Amino acid sequence: MEIAIIGSGYVGLVAAACFAEIGHQVICVDNDQTKVAALSRGEAPIHERFLPELLARHRKERLRFTTSIAEAVRASEIIFIAVGTPTDEAGKADLSTVEQVVQAIANELRGSSAKQKIVVEKSTVPVGTSQWVRRVMREAGAREGSFDVVCNPEFLREGCAVTDFLYPHRIVAGGNEESCDRLRLIYAPIIDGSYAERADAVPQPDGANAAVPFIASSAESAELIKNASNAFLAMKISFINAVANVCEAVGADVEQVREGVGSDARIGSEFLRPGLGYGGSCFPKDLLAFRSTAADAGYDFRLLDEVIRINAQQREMFLRKVHEALWTLKGKRLAVLGLAYKGGTDDVRESPAIAFIRMLLKEGANVVAYDPAAAAKAREAFGEDEITLCDHLYSAAESADALIILTDWEEFGQLDFGRLRSVMKAAVLIDGRNMYEPEFVAARGFAYYSIGRTSLPRAKAATEVDRAA
Ligand SMILES: NC(=O)c1ccc[n+]([C@@H]2O[C@H](COP(=O)([O-])OP(=O)(O)OC[C@H]3O[C@@H](n4cnc5c(N)ncnc54)[C@H](O)[C@@H]3O)[C@@H](O)[C@H]2O)c1
Repeated sequence: MEIAIIGSGYVGLVAAACFAEIGHQVICVDNDQTKVAALSRGEAPIHERFLPELLARHRKERLRFTTSIAEAVRASEIIFIAVGTPTDEAGKADLSTVEQVVQAIANELRGSSAKQKIVVEKSTVPVGTSQWVRRVMREAGAREGSFDVVCNPEFLREGCAVTDFLYPHRIVAGGNEESCDRLRLIYAPIIDGSYAERADAVPQPDGANAAVPFIASSAESAELIKNASNAFLAMKISFINAVANVCEAVGADVEQVREGVGSDARIGSEFLRPGLGYGGSCFPKDLLAFRSTAADAGYDFRLLDEVIRINAQQREMFLRKVHEALWTLKGKRLAVLGLAYKGGTDDVRESPAIAFIRMLLKEGANVVAYDPAAAAKAREAFGEDEITLCDHLYSAAESADALIILTDWEEFGQLDFGRLRSVMKAAVLIDGRNMYEPEFVAARGFAYYSIGRTSLPRAKAATEVDRAA
């Protein structure tokens, strides 16, 4: 099928590459000319596993890029809108970019005699947006009957976006039956598992569904499925962080508690990792927007307030931990590992790491940071000379008073402690993502502070070293 994707960001570009991968002709639009030029040259503007391979495989053949919405609409039967939906100052979803795109699509459909096109809401939007899109389309001149609107929310996670898209837990489509069926056809190779059987398929992750449920619903329900899913996942993160704080207070180990709780299939272990709290371009904004939607509808969703409060508090708690380890921060050289909001991505939007670095800077610390992929994007978040960015992990650690892990990149779980000890001023590891067993770190001569577990400060760590020796 001929598909247009408007907005070539983390969602749009991944969706475009994956639709091409399952056999469709895709035209991908962005109003950022530099991005479109880079994509047309075959460069991936974001860090995402398997994306460069898919772009190389399909560019020119099944996947092309343009800045023209009109061209994309003319060439396609189905048009996905995947532009950003940030929150405005009042905490509501700012749908102005969606509106501009809808008007541009409608312009192209004015007077068109082409077969009915389907406009798909891929962006995360508040409930009721589908109705609103229809109205804008009509008011902008799109002929009645020339289009339909379906909500098809996206659940991919950055860092494993390609595999999440090709091997999803479910696909949701909200709208009238006939249009949902057309969407079902687009996803057919994913739904029936035939894509996974291809010899050249992107490898299937552990635990992927053999056949993917396709959930057809009303547009309102589909919009709410996305809102409620993100709110629930954020709630799980805040829940385990609150439990971590209780663990610390009573001398329990949150990692043991997490394992015990998450092994219950009714609860599940995913999104139950204690740490610095959630961040990124989705959860913070989606929770605010959902709370606002509920309030507008007359429901005071206080549970969401608490999820948001616990998340913000988690950074304060972690700062206390840094103080517990170092007492004062002024003038201290702190080596920070991680700038992205989570491992596997270069996205720094609403990154807890960036917010936490700001807290360290406010206390007068000198921050030297390393991230395998997000340094360039983080550079824009800080003023000139505010922090030092290093290209190598061990250069960042040189002469540091402490090493602080803020992002759960896999490589941060494989540190060479001997090398670190030889370059750092003091052997102190403060781990905001619980990447290690405390005894393991202590046995390597490091004081170790983590979340929801008893700290092993220097004296205790030294004893562990003696025992290991
Ligand atoms: N990032 C995620 O993990 C994720 C996951 C699920 C859903 N979502 C939702 O998907 C939507 C897109 O998120 P994203 O992270 O891909 O955003 P993004 O900022 O990475 O991408 C948006 C893209 O749209 C382009 N754009 C803006 N205005 C445009 C216009 N008028 N015409 C054409 N292109 C335009 C931008 O240049 C950008 O490339 C959001 O609603 C988000 O909440 C995101």
